[in-house]
Amino acid sequence: MFQYNEKVMEHFANPRNVGEIPNADGIGEVGNPVCGDMMTFYIKVKDGKLDDVKFKTFGCGAAIAVSSMVSEMAKGMTLEQAMQLSNKDVAEQLGGLPENKLHCSNLGADALHKAIENYREKHKEI
Ligand code: FES
Repeated sequence: MFQYNEKVMEHFANPRNVGEIPNADGIGEVGNPVCGDMMTFYIKVKDGKLDDVKFKTFGCGAAIAVSSMVSEMAKGMTLEQAMQLSNKDVAEQLGGLPENKLHCSNLGADALHKAIENYREKHKEI
């Protein structure tokens, strides 16, 4: 038996930044090999910073809370800072996750990093 703390429950009940960004500058999608759940992050970039971050998920409650937190933390960060954002940082910011739910926290930051890579691919100088 495990329990989620209040902060996790609060983000699960009121997830921030859910949805899609039309004409997103970068899109990152990852699947969780442990459970098969999916996560997609959308980003808008302005002046080298994350101007907007949104996500959609077919994930569990922990994945929703994590992505909500990732989106809040990442907004306003430079791309470099956002690439440094780790799953551990997010889980810590949420006050911890139950041990058997730690794999769920991988989805959020991984999908964000993929969205940034996608943006960089598209905007590569030729
Ligand atoms: Fe799949 Fe949590 S059980 S993301």
